[in-house]
Amino acid sequence: MIEAKALSVSFGSTMALRDVSLSVEAGESVAVMGRSGSGKSTLLHCLAGLVRPDQGEVWFDDRRLDSASEKTRSDERLRHMGLVFQFGYLVPELTLAENVALPLLVTGTSRRAAQQRAMELLERLEASDVADRRPSEVSGGQMQRAAVARALAHRPRVVFADEPTGALDSANGQLVLEAMIAAARDDQAAVVVVTHEARLASYCDREIVLVDGVIE
Ligand SMILES: Nc1ncnc2c1ncn2[C@@H]1O[C@H](COP(=O)(O)OP(=O)(O)OP(=O)(O)O)[C@@H](O)[C@H]1O
Ligand SMILES: [Mg+2]
Repeated sequence: MIEAKALSVSFGSTMALRDVSLSVEAGESVAVMGRSGSGKSTLLHCLAGLVRPDQGEVWFDDRRLDSASEKTRSDERLRHMGLVFQFGYLVPELTLAENVALPLLVTGTSRRAAQQRAMELLERLEASDVADRRPSEVSGGQMQRAAVARALAHRPRVVFADEPTGALDSANGQLVLEAMIAAARDDQAAVVVVTHEARLASYCDREIVLVDGVIE
């Protein structure tokens, strides 16, 4: 479903990725591990069409993503991808429930159905009690769980999550991983999740480790 072929990315003199290939099937979950600076976020950003690789190709189904226009790439993200960024986040003016409903509303779901889906996900992630608060009025972990709920709201075909459990204790980290694995199972989504925690990575079907921009 999502495939990277021989990606290389440099930032100035830093080689962030070097000849990285990865293929993730529908319904499959992959954990990306590696030290700080090893290229995990860069890989995710390439797969999601946010960063254009210097070399290599990214394919989403039978469509080539890396060379597509800005508009095509952002349409693909909006409709088919769910993203949880390493840093950031929710729209500050909206409540958590409104944030989660947002990807549904912009792709044409009715307000009622969007609200219902948002509450269902916030419940699953144990954040429904703060659904009506704005991000500034909740904890970092509650924000992070709402960001995960938002990424899953429109039943994306691919979920990319960059350390979605960073601000969470182990029980909530497990909750988040389980919600993503459930999306893989129930909606046949492909899931790619960056995590530092081996215990959480072990919930995924497969683990890859990046070392200085190369898959070990
Ligand atoms: N926009 C950028 N400009 C310059 N260098 C960058 C940029 N983004 C990443 N890098 C460099 O590329 C390398 C890989 O960065 P990346 O963010 O992919 O690492 P990471 O594995 O996600 O690290 P962390 O675990 O700290 O989030 C690092 O050496 C980083 O300093
Ligand atoms: Mg990173």
